[in-house]
Amino acid sequence: MCGIVGYVGPRPALEVLIPGLRRLEYRGYDSAGIVVAAPGGLRVLKTPGKIQRLEERVRAEWMGTSAAGSQCGIAHTRWATHGPPTEVNAHPHTDHCGRLAIVHNGIIENYADLKRQLEARGHVFTSQTDTEVLAHLIGVLAEENDVLSAICAALRQVEGTLGVAVVHADHPDRIWVVRRGSPIVLGMGDSETIVASDAAAIVAHTNRVIYLDDDDVAIVTAGSIDVRTAQNVPVSRQVAQLDWDVHTAEKSGYEHFMLKEIFEQPEALRNAMRGRLDPATGSAKLGGLAMDPREIAQVRRVVLVACGTSLHAGMVGRLYFEDLADLPTSVEQAAEFRYRNPILSPHDLVVAISQSGETADTLAAVREARQKGAALAGICNVVGSTIARETGRGVYLHAGPEIGVASTKAFTCQVVVLLLIALKFARCRRLCREEGERIGEAIASTPDLVARVLERNDRIAAVAEKYAAARDVFFIGRGHLYPVALEGALKLKEISYAHAEGYHAAELKHGPIALLEPSVPVVALALDVPGRDKMIGNIQECRARHAPVIALATDGDSTIASMVEDVIWLPPCSPLVAPIPAAVALQLLAYHVARVRGCEIDQPRNLAKSVTVE
Ligand code: G6P
Repeated sequence: MCGIVGYVGPRPALEVLIPGLRRLEYRGYDSAGIVVAAPGGLRVLKTPGKIQRLEERVRAEWMGTSAAGSQCGIAHTRWATHGPPTEVNAHPHTDHCGRLAIVHNGIIENYADLKRQLEARGHVFTSQTDTEVLAHLIGVLAEENDVLSAICAALRQVEGTLGVAVVHADHPDRIWVVRRGSPIVLGMGDSETIVASDAAAIVAHTNRVIYLDDDDVAIVTAGSIDVRTAQNVPVSRQVAQLDWDVHTAEKSGYEHFMLKEIFEQPEALRNAMRGRLDPATGSAKLGGLAMDPREIAQVRRVVLVACGTSLHAGMVGRLYFEDLADLPTSVEQAAEFRYRNPILSPHDLVVAISQSGETADTLAAVREARQKGAALAGICNVVGSTIARETGRGVYLHAGPEIGVASTKAFTCQVVVLLLIALKFARCRRLCREEGERIGEAIASTPDLVARVLERNDRIAAVAEKYAAARDVFFIGRGHLYPVALEGALKLKEISYAHAEGYHAAELKHGPIALLEPSVPVVALALDVPGRDKMIGNIQECRARHAPVIALATDGDSTIASMVEDVIWLPPCSPLVAPIPAAVALQLLAYHVARVRGCEIDQPRNLAKSVTVE
């Protein structure tokens, strides 16, 4: 949520900052701003709207000025929390004398108290943001201290989450950065350093990075990175290697990141399972999970916590743990989980599922579970993310960066990783090798299965065009496909703004069926898996109310075809992995509906890729 990029080095900072913002735009895109250190002081430019508008203003107002040549600056793309997305509320924010500027990700929880104290001392604030308060606070403290000490002193007063970058007019050769709960990555280039809230803004310049730890403060110059604790004590942090290249963060000829990421799924799934399936034992090798067979045997319950699309993956995962490993399993919406009184013991394994590894509610659930003594593990995509670090062990998706705000490849990879973990648990507890092998084969088939769904893109686009004008759409499913119905509805509503609802097919008659009429299509997940026969009855119920039904059916299923308006055919597969091809088909359906409706697919209104506020 929100993106930060900073540059200090021999090049004009704008060359790195503007493209960097573009790469981070998926994290927030309602306003943007930039500050550079130029002779005579800081130059700030901010604008509501997309990066494109900021870029136009930079070109119009800065070209040919000293700001264009500045070699040090920071920039921000915003997803509004405090105050609407206006020019004044956009970051950067400056202190009371305009000598210091900051950009900030996260939320300062006690900003109102701090603001009152500063106002009592005569400070005047122009924005409604919490960030401006922090800028003033550091600015005041810097009047009597060096900037680093001022930042450390400010950290002692603020509560909340921070990813911050600071520049000062008197020090045009450096950037100070802070991480507390909101990630900061430092890219070490050739006599240049790039600061960013995620690696997408860095990968075009270098693969060598340092991930800051919580409460780290760093002073960054072109050729040096000096990391301190919040108590101003020097610490050393490891240099890591980014394992993706610049093309993974580009559209590579696709019209949208979402479409690119949908089509990347065969490869992403291969990466998610690479080296993890072990045919010799009919099990899975998951080194990062760091659980030996004894520890696995001691688990009495699995609790999956997540939000959004990851929650839907968790709902599929629950069935795997129950069916294969005979383990009682619950799926918890992370925000609810921490405000209840979850009953946990050391024999409960709490698994946090999060693409970004930064979702505030999921992170809070992890902390709650730890405090209650449960065992922890994470399923994350972003390496080194906060949830990955705080759970301390788990399984990475290796899906590559997901830029489209609507999650696609992360979902299918989460499902596969959950199946791999359930397989490993099952083999340690009850499942025979032959059964394990059979499941391994089903997992191994998923990349080809998805490739065959992608071949049907044109047919799915045609169905989408036919129904693109619908105002309301229902998605119904059963068993393993029930969570996919929820996910299909979520995909459609988030990118096309059609009102879509996912229901268990049997639940439809307990209320929602009242809404069915000829203008309300129902997407029925009617693949040839257990529950299909009951689904036939549910389809009839919809038809009797004159709702057009679009079925996802298995190739050759003429019974289903004969009773519905339209069919999206999917290749036959093991019921265990059916959620994967079904989800891909529904991703394409949502994508094409949104395309026909002319929506901004990669940046849907009001949404953000990672939600770091509760
Ligand atoms: C946001 C995104 C969703 C995502 C959810 C959970 O709402 O828009 O696509 O599923 O957060 O994110 P996570 O990174 O924890 O999986």
